[in-house]
Amino acid sequence: MEIIESIEVMRERSRELRKRGKTISLVPTMGYLHDGHLFLLQEGRRRADCLVISIYVNPTQFSPGEDFERYPRDFERDVALSRQSGVDIIFCPDSKDMYPEGYLTFINVEEMTRELCGLTRPNYFRGVTTICAKLFNIVAPHLAIFGKKDFQQYQVIRQMVRDLNMDLEIVGLPTVREKGGLAMSSRNVYLTAEERESALGLSAALKLAQDMYQRGERDAGAILAQARRVIEERPGVVIDYAKIVSTASMKEVARIEGEAVFALAVKVGATRLIDNHVFGDALEI
Ligand code: PAF
Repeated sequence: MEIIESIEVMRERSRELRKRGKTISLVPTMGYLHDGHLFLLQEGRRRADCLVISIYVNPTQFSPGEDFERYPRDFERDVALSRQSGVDIIFCPDSKDMYPEGYLTFINVEEMTRELCGLTRPNYFRGVTTICAKLFNIVAPHLAIFGKKDFQQYQVIRQMVRDLNMDLEIVGLPTVREKGGLAMSSRNVYLTAEERESALGLSAALKLAQDMYQRGERDAGAILAQARRVIEERPGVVIDYAKIVSTASMKEVARIEGEAVFALAVKVGATRLIDNHVFGDALEI
C-alpha cells in the first residue's frame, strides 16, 4: 500500500494504471474510518483493479462555527484499517496544495442544494462538489463510491457528474448501522452514553415511517407527525428537519407517489446527526 500526498504523484500513478488498462475505484473520505467506510472499501476492492481511498478533511465544506477544527482525526488508525481493507493507495493531500493562495473556483449544483442540509449549512454542498470534482480530476477513477447515509450529498454528486459530463460511475451503498439502529458516522464519537440512547430515535422514526408506508399510508403529514413524536420523546434532542422529499428534487411532497425519501437532521446535545430512508427500500433495524 502506498501513501501519496502529492497531487502530481497521484496523477502520475493513475496515468500509469490507466495506460496498463487497469480500472481504478475511489472512496472519498474525511478519515476517522468506521464500518460504514469499510463497507465502501470492500465494494471498491471488489469492483476495480486498484483501490484508492482519499483521506482529507475538506475545509471548504464547513461553515464558520462548525466542527472543522475538532473533526475527529486518527491517521495511523486509518492507515491500518485501509491496509486491512486491501487499499492500494491512500491519497492524503495537503490543504496548501488543494487550495493554494489565489484559489477561486467552486462548483455549485443549483436548487437541490438549497433544500434540507443546504438550509442550515450554506457552504456545505458547494464545498463537497468542489472537492469531489478535484479528487475526480486528480485520481481519475472509473468509479467513486459513496454511502447513502448522506443521501442528499449522493444525489448532488450524481447531478454534478451528469451535468458536467464527468467520465465516471457514481456508486451509492446502503447505510451501515450499529446494533440498535444508529447510522454509523465519524461524528458518533461526540455522543455521550445518554445522547447515544436519544440518538436511537432517528432510526426508530425511520422504522415507524417505513412500517406506516408498508401498511399503505401515503400522506406525508400523517407519517411525519408520528415520526417526530418518536424522536422528540427522547431527552436532549432538537429536530433541525424531518421531511419527506422527492429523491430527484429534494423538495417536500405532500403524498408519497413517486420515489421519496424520509430525511432527518437532528441535534442530539451539541452533535448534529443525519439519517434517511427511501420508502420501499430494505431497512434492517
Ligand atoms: O462524505 C464525506 O465524508 C465528505 O463529504 C466527502 C464526500 C469525502 C467530501 O469531503
